[in-house]
Amino acid sequence: MSQPRDPPYPELKKTHTMARAGRPWTDHRPPAAAPVWAAIEGLGRYYALAAALELGLFDALAAADEGPVTGNSPGGSQSLVTAADLARRLGASEPHLESLLDSVTAMGLLERTGGTYGLNDTARRYLTRDGPASMAELVPVAPGPVGNWTRLADTVRTGRPAAPIDDDPAAFYRPLTQGTFTTVWRSAARADLKIGYSRMRAPRILDLGAGGAPWSIAMLEACGDGRAVINDLDGVIDIARAKAAEHGVADRCQFRPGDYHAIDIEDGGYDIVVLGHVCRTEGPAGARRLIDRAYGALRPEGRVVLADYFVDQLKANPHAVLMGLTMMTSTVNGFPIASRQAAAWLADAGFEAVRLIEPIGFQFAYVAAKPRSRP
Ligand SMILES: C[S@@+](CC[C@H](N)C(=O)[O-])C[C@H]1O[C@@H](n2cnc3c(N)ncnc32)[C@H](O)[C@@H]1O
Repeated sequence: MSQPRDPPYPELKKTHTMARAGRPWTDHRPPAAAPVWAAIEGLGRYYALAAALELGLFDALAAADEGPVTGNSPGGSQSLVTAADLARRLGASEPHLESLLDSVTAMGLLERTGGTYGLNDTARRYLTRDGPASMAELVPVAPGPVGNWTRLADTVRTGRPAAPIDDDPAAFYRPLTQGTFTTVWRSAARADLKIGYSRMRAPRILDLGAGGAPWSIAMLEACGDGRAVINDLDGVIDIARAKAAEHGVADRCQFRPGDYHAIDIEDGGYDIVVLGHVCRTEGPAGARRLIDRAYGALRPEGRVVLADYFVDQLKANPHAVLMGLTMMTSTVNGFPIASRQAAAWLADAGFEAVRLIEPIGFQFAYVAAKPRSRP
């Protein structure tokens, strides 16, 4: 049987005329293949960025910024270097490096002026190791174990990833929590504008699955008399110890290693409980148990902060939807959390004044209060 032919040009057919269809014939133009190409290129885009970071390309361009200016840039403060020069500095093959540089430029992450390359504002802020919002350590670990992506269809068939993070959580979470620290710490520090934790007197904070403890550290930095109990798994909690020491707040932290479903927690002992990016790997039952633990740990009027990526009812937030897919790809119970679902869990646990904040772009948190105790 012959395939129906796809006309290369929009055709004016009898059935397409305004008289019959009520709309102009141009409606019948075939759709562009751009979304399909965007998906195919997604793999190359990710690996181009990962390779650029692994080669130290952004840091080399940052170092060139500090040297003598060799080219003109709109801001006048940026050195522009050639592929040959960079290849020498990085010990790389020039034509291969040039191809990578052009690709990273095409992705909007570098500037190219004639034959020279330089950092743009995005690269300087997010992709240099010392950038104020550096994601350089996050990029290599953010997608989870790469092998699980190549077996995604099997995961969908069987309902379980081939190599879930759950089998060896410390191996995955140690680099992940170091990679996410700066972004989450910035979000936590900015969240003070919405939560007002710096106005609290001597707050007691409980941080479950704290990772590098970005939430506790931001809160302790803002509250000189605050104290925090920081929990994570054995094998990960030393990341929090190191970060707390780096930020000069370790003497106000108590580290409590172990499974957050099982560790001892004082009833009514805390002003703030943080559940930072832990619920989405738990599945609904595990997430509800954590929220119940948070409720039990809080004093009346204490607040829970539940940070995560939430898909809305219409699943119209692609970043959250794909983050949910990332969880599903590599964890046993990981799924996207819908905003409505998270709000309902909090309300079911007894929380009130439930609200959603976005302290910095793409970082969301629900904040909710335990009711005042009845006289
Ligand atoms: C995505 S990270 C979030 C880290 C930090 N809260 C944040 O917001 O950046 C999840 C953390 O939960 C920890 N975790 C996972 N399962 C845990 C468990 N059963 N008990 C304690 N911590 C756990 C992991 O080790 C990891 O540090």
